[in-house]
Amino acid sequence: MRNFELYNPTNLVFGKDQIKKISNLIPEGSKVLMLYGGGSIKTNGVYEQVIAALSKFEVIEFAGIEANPEYSTLIKALDVIKKEKIDFMLAVGGGSVIDGTKFLSSAALYEGDSPWDILANRIRTTKGLPFGTVLTLPATGSEMNSGAVVSRKETNEKLPMGGPGLFPQFSICDPSVVASIPERQLANGVADAYTHVLEQYMTYPTEAHLQDRISESILQTLIEVAPRIMKDPSNYDVAANFMWCCTMALNGLIQKGVPTDWSVHMIAHEITAHYGVDHARTLAIILPSAYEYQFDKKKEKLAQYAERVWNISEGTVEEKAKKAIEKTESFYQSMGIQTRLSEYTDDYQGFASKAAKSLEAHGMSKLGEHGDITPDVVEKIVEMAY
Ligand code: NZQ
Ligand code: ZN
Repeated sequence: MRNFELYNPTNLVFGKDQIKKISNLIPEGSKVLMLYGGGSIKTNGVYEQVIAALSKFEVIEFAGIEANPEYSTLIKALDVIKKEKIDFMLAVGGGSVIDGTKFLSSAALYEGDSPWDILANRIRTTKGLPFGTVLTLPATGSEMNSGAVVSRKETNEKLPMGGPGLFPQFSICDPSVVASIPERQLANGVADAYTHVLEQYMTYPTEAHLQDRISESILQTLIEVAPRIMKDPSNYDVAANFMWCCTMALNGLIQKGVPTDWSVHMIAHEITAHYGVDHARTLAIILPSAYEYQFDKKKEKLAQYAERVWNISEGTVEEKAKKAIEKTESFYQSMGIQTRLSEYTDDYQGFASKAAKSLEAHGMSKLGEHGDITPDVVEKIVEMAY
């Protein structure tokens, strides 16, 4: 096992009727900017609960943060933060609203020329404007980690950022919010969390037994939860398990002491940047080809996953590993997620080379746990995913 430090200061407040606790979690006297998305919170009762909990604070609202938060929208929110001298932000939404708020947290204190440099130059944020979150969509784990991803349509870019200054001070996770999530987003949530675990697990054996077993447990629980939550999102117990899996998949715990991959995410971000496909669906497009391409390097872990998660006990390491990739692809498909780029667009010829060049231009030319996913390999993996 590798050496590690585990730091996670987010106060995670989980369960029914917890939104009211916001009133004690935000420092007294704060001027609060409440940020949200396209309006789902206005139809499912979350907005009213948050407003009631904020009654003792001066609150300004900023609505309209879109899925895959857009830089030009966030810059408008940044103006509000500066003009109104905001001292606390509250993100109410899914990964996009929370990520947008993390960008603002960093940008509000940034002293460089342009806030875009935080993303373009991959500046690590050690101190940000404080913020909390109310999670409405289990998926990304953003409620308990310090990473964010921001998009810029104008230039077809989608770039990650982060740093220890960007953990939410608190996150309220009430599984009751799951009841109003449409089927497409439920599928996205399961697929995203599932892939987060694989990015941190599907590398090579490292004698990190507990990390492996925790990862396998999250995967198994998500497999159990997926058909049930899609059938009945108002089942609180299933929703609670779904929500906790998504947080645990990317709150930093399972990546400690082990090598991690993340190349599937970085390649997949290029698909969203170019075609606007939902984040989770881009992962389902890239992952099967990425694992097939790296079959020899990943086969031992793939076989372990086949045995422990999918109960495949027959066959050689290679046969089990092959079945593991097939099972993973069918799992995405079982939730109505298509796994080929050509199922989302007719205009895919030439994209592989564009994606490779774009990653290279952003300094991502040695991806994966071995640092051997170079631009030419990216091009091959994306072509295999057509
Ligand atoms: O905007 P509203 O009207 O709120 O609607 C949203 C949005 O259209 C809707 N929604 C959210 N909660 C709902 C709901 N609808 C009904 N009931 C509810 N309770 O769902 C739609 C999608 O929301 P979004 O926040 O975009 O989804 P998600 O949570 O999947 O976030 C995706 C973004 O997170 C990034 C992705 O790249 C993408 O930009 N990621 C962030 C990560 C992180 N910070 O750690 C890691 C991930 O790998 C990922 O990259
Ligand atoms: Zn993801």
